[in-house]
Amino acid sequence: MDLEKLLTDRLAPAFAAVAGGPVDPVVRRSQHADFQSDAALALARRLGRPPRAIAEEVRARAELADLCSAVEVSGPGFLNLTVADRALGGLVTALVADPRLGVPVVADPETVVVDYSGPNVAKEMHVGHLRSTVIGDAAARLLEWRGHRVLRANHLGDWGTPFGMLIEHLVDLGEAGAAQELSMGDLDAFYKAAREKFDGDAAFRDRSRLRVVALQGGDPATRRLWRLLVTQSESYFLTVYDLLDVTLSRADFQGESSYHDLLASTLAELDRLGLLRRSDGADCVFPAGSVGRDGEPLPLIVRKSDGGYGYPATDLAALRHRTGTLGATRLLYVVGLPQRRHFEMVFAAAAQAGWLAPPARAEHVGFGSILGPDGRMLRSRAGGSVKLVDLLGEAVERATALARERNPGLGDAEAAEVGRAVGIGAIKYADLAGDRRKDYVLDWERMLSLDGNTAPYLQYAYSRIRSIFRRAGAAARPDAAVSPVEPAERALAFELVGFPVVVDAVAGSLEFHHLAGHLHRVAVAFSAFYERCPVLRADGPVRESRLALCDLTARVLGQGLFLLGIRTPERL
Ligand code: ARG
Repeated sequence: MDLEKLLTDRLAPAFAAVAGGPVDPVVRRSQHADFQSDAALALARRLGRPPRAIAEEVRARAELADLCSAVEVSGPGFLNLTVADRALGGLVTALVADPRLGVPVVADPETVVVDYSGPNVAKEMHVGHLRSTVIGDAAARLLEWRGHRVLRANHLGDWGTPFGMLIEHLVDLGEAGAAQELSMGDLDAFYKAAREKFDGDAAFRDRSRLRVVALQGGDPATRRLWRLLVTQSESYFLTVYDLLDVTLSRADFQGESSYHDLLASTLAELDRLGLLRRSDGADCVFPAGSVGRDGEPLPLIVRKSDGGYGYPATDLAALRHRTGTLGATRLLYVVGLPQRRHFEMVFAAAAQAGWLAPPARAEHVGFGSILGPDGRMLRSRAGGSVKLVDLLGEAVERATALARERNPGLGDAEAAEVGRAVGIGAIKYADLAGDRRKDYVLDWERMLSLDGNTAPYLQYAYSRIRSIFRRAGAAARPDAAVSPVEPAERALAFELVGFPVVVDAVAGSLEFHHLAGHLHRVAVAFSAFYERCPVLRADGPVRESRLALCDLTARVLGQGLFLLGIRTPERL
């Protein structure tokens, strides 16, 4: 049970008695005491009475004796609440004994589809795909830990007109040569070469067009070549996921092609519902509420004038499949903010068609761009878009060099292991530690720094605690009683008790910067505690209590970082 809620539950009846109706006590952390309630001020205006008198009356009525050691009226009418050491100790002691750290499995699990990563076949993954992969994976991990049934959907771009030219290019190269090129991860070169031929060679263009028709018509030979392209790209993407410690596997590839057979029936259903309209030869839905700058309704093109189905059609079919067939009630789309309009329209159209009816709901979990040091879109030195593997390689290389520098005693294997955990962790954390809707600047120095709100700082705090236990020569006891007394101990205890509250909020908002920020506050509080409160030099119950606080801190940091997809090495 979290403290805000405990205090709120005790204050609410007192406020209600004074106000003659329900009042939210507005309890929050305070600079002057542990918590404060500000509700008397607003209430005073409503009742036309002095706020201090109201606060005083609430203070007299509220049953807080077991929870608070002091309740004071201060300033214009705040209620300052000091939590009793015993009550705080009881809450922390309960967390120590709880393998789930105070985060219960939800009582009403639901089926959640997390649509994330979604790179395109025979094209390099770029930093936008990195953000989707990192944020989406954190969402999948978090919701799974809460007890939901999470279905990962990697909406691979594996269908559509470009595949005509890609297959023809593959035929030109020969299967063996193409496979070789693709398995090296040289996807951009492959795509560009195909594109150049398509633009410059009329005969190639004709062959490509025929190929698309053959592909969509199900021609077996064409399908086999297409499969080859897809499989090679999938293998390459899987190596990137593996390097990134991302939980996506081969079974999660649900490319656009997998909805191909549902497109016609989706279109027919829209037609039956009277939602389709012809516009410039295309079949469109005009979702309610979607209008352009000129005030004209905007079309969602379901079937293009050439008879082909595009991106919106696939998304409609996929959504219908997710709610209708998979029975999902929460649909997450972790895709960059430039696609906001697309998803608004898809969701609105699906709602009109009855495919997205409560309790089912869809959320576009949008995010901003990664910028270079110059504040512009991240570019490689050659001016092209940055290859994701190059970026990850650089992170690992830099982190390995730093690890060796800080700890010359590290063996090669260990330095590589630490470098990987820290380098990849730093990249992922930088992506998750800021409001995802905002752009952020990729700053190597800052994200690899051991100070500040960074992965290395948290990983360091974790490894430091693990080293305490190596020196103690024993693990903490799960039945240890914690009695926080010193201010630094109390401050740490408050942060640890706050973990479940943050996890709960982030499971709803998917604003991972709140989880990251919380872990950072835990680590900062730990560091102050460790500076001021001897652990191994204490004895008896004090030592037991402090060791239990250390262990709980490591478990919260470890679990929190796990949810963000970041490893916690035992030694840095
Ligand atoms: N392949 C798309 C892209 O690279 C992302 C797919 C996002 N998911 C979806 N259901 N539309 O932009």
